[in-house]
Order: sequence, then C-alpha cells, then structure tokens
Amino acid sequence: MTATTAPAPAPMARLTDLRPSHDDIAGDVLEGLSASPKQLPSKYFYDARGSELFEAITRQPEYYLTRVEIALLDARMDAIARAVGAHAHVVEYGSGSGRKTAQLLEGLRDPVAYTPIEIDRGTLLASTARLAEAFPQIEMLPVCADFSRPVELPRPGRATGHTLVFFPGSTLGNFDHPGAIELMRSMRATMGARGQALIGIDLDKDSATLEAAYNDAAGVTAAFTLNLLTRLNRELGSDFELDGFRHHAVYARERGRIETFLVSRHEQSVIVAGRDFRFAAGEAMLVEYSHKYTDAGLAGLAQVAGLTVVEGWNDPRDWFGLRLLQPA
Ligand code: AVJ
Repeated sequence: MTATTAPAPAPMARLTDLRPSHDDIAGDVLEGLSASPKQLPSKYFYDARGSELFEAITRQPEYYLTRVEIALLDARMDAIARAVGAHAHVVEYGSGSGRKTAQLLEGLRDPVAYTPIEIDRGTLLASTARLAEAFPQIEMLPVCADFSRPVELPRPGRATGHTLVFFPGSTLGNFDHPGAIELMRSMRATMGARGQALIGIDLDKDSATLEAAYNDAAGVTAAFTLNLLTRLNRELGSDFELDGFRHHAVYARERGRIETFLVSRHEQSVIVAGRDFRFAAGEAMLVEYSHKYTDAGLAGLAQVAGLTVVEGWNDPRDWFGLRLLQPA
C-alpha cells in the first residue's frame, strides 16, 4: 500500500475589515432621478441576479471584451510576468468570477500574497475561499473596503517585492473621466512608490462592433439593464413597470463611450421612496457609461492621476488592451 498525503488545508484567509459605509442606494437613486436628464448609478447593477446576467453577457457572441482579454492574458503572460517581476503582492479592485485572477496568479513569478478589495463581505469571502484552494502557496489577505478610496494594505508574512494592482475587465470604463482620475489617484496611493497597476481597457473601434456588444441579439444585456429596476422595486419599494422601459445603448464617438439608457415607452409616473417621478414618452434615463480608450486618452488620464503607462499589450486586432502603469 502506498502512503497517501492529504493535501495541506488552505490556511484561513485573514480578513481586514475596514467597515466601509453601506451604499446609500435610496439617496443615490433619489438624487439621480431628481437630476435632469435623469440618471441611475450603474454600480447597482450587480445584485445576485445582475451578477448572473453579467456572466451570461460575457458568453454572448457579440460581447467580445471578456473573451479577448482572457486570450490576451494567456498569449502575453510571459511578457507580463517579466515586466511585473517576482514576489508581487497582487491587489485586485473588486472581485469578479476569479477567472482572470487565477490566470494572473498562475502566470506571475512566485507572487507572495493576494488582496482582493471588495465592499461586499460575503462576495469577498466567497471569492477568496475559491482562490485560496487553488493557490495554497499564496497568502490570502482580503480587505473589505470601498476600493475608490486609498487602502492601507495588510502586510504579507513573506517579504514582497512590490504591490501590483490588478483592475481588468475595462471596469475603469464605467467611470467618467473625473471619476477615473480619482480612482487612479487612489490606486497610486494604495500601491506605494514602487507599485504598479495592470489595467484592462476596451479600445476605441468601429461603432458597429461596439454597439453590437451592448445590444446582443439574445437580449441578455437588455435584461441586465432592466434588472436594475427590479432591484429598485425590491429594495426601495418603487413601482417601475418593467415593460414600461426599454434598453438603449449607443456609441457616442465624440465622448468615446457607450451610453446606456432606459427609455420610457410612454408617459408615466413612478413612485420611489414615497416620491413621484414623471417620465415623458421617449424620455431617456442614463444608466451606464462604458468608455473606450485610445492610448493618448488613457495616458492623459493617468498623467493627471500621477501615473505613467510603462508597457502595453493588445490582442492582434487591437480591440482590447492591458496596460502596466507606475507612479510618474
Ligand atoms: C464589466 C462593467 C466593464 O461596461 O462593458 C456589459 C458591464 N454593461 N454590458 C462593460 C456591461 C453592459 C461591463 N463592465
């Protein structure tokens, strides 16, 4: 009989809880509905159903972003690992499915620790537990915090070369330019003087390709957008009629971004937190930006934030890019 060695149990992840203040969903929604034109914050898309619908979007043939970024990470990992160097403390802003994280942790040279920063404690612990099992040699140091503010990072037990902030998915694109600059500034503070950031950005391209990606034929993106109203009805007791609004996403080339709207199909009024909001027939409420970048555009934002682009990798069609940034 051969002796079998049980796999070493993954060490419990040490949670740093910075007790982020809860999202003020009622306040944010009332403020957006009182603005002219009306708007709703896209960060509220991601309840359980919204996250599920987003995963389904990434499997639509028109939504190339996720597939191309995964292929790009795969194709260029050697060069990325060389540019990043050994013993990094990898810090990720938000936690998604963990697919790209696993690719990065697998490809880097002996990363020392991994810190996801995420506002939702449950999401944070679940994704950390999955990665801990796959990477028992990497110290898991999750931080429950709002990643849009600078975070003092927990110190890994093993010496680390430097911090690498990982922000894939073109999530940066959901922020307007002032918001993206503020976020990169806080990234710079979190990473420290010798830190780096690896950011995924969707690149500017023809309008037809872009608009198809945000208007898939199966209607999954439309369901994702409308799910925001379902969430508000549940959590705020509002009475949005789901078939009273339609999804509309268009590329505004002058502004370099997909703008997604919910358009009122007819004149109607909606009650939200005891207040009455009127919609005209055809009135468009802005719910999301997805910015598309040029190299000059990203370099300009980074520069204002005190960062500089030091390396970059694109897929063969120049549809999606990864950029390595460091303090200027
Ligand atoms: C994952 C937030 C970057 O903007 O492309 C996908 C979200 N919205 N389809 C994006 C999204 C509509 C996605 N991000």
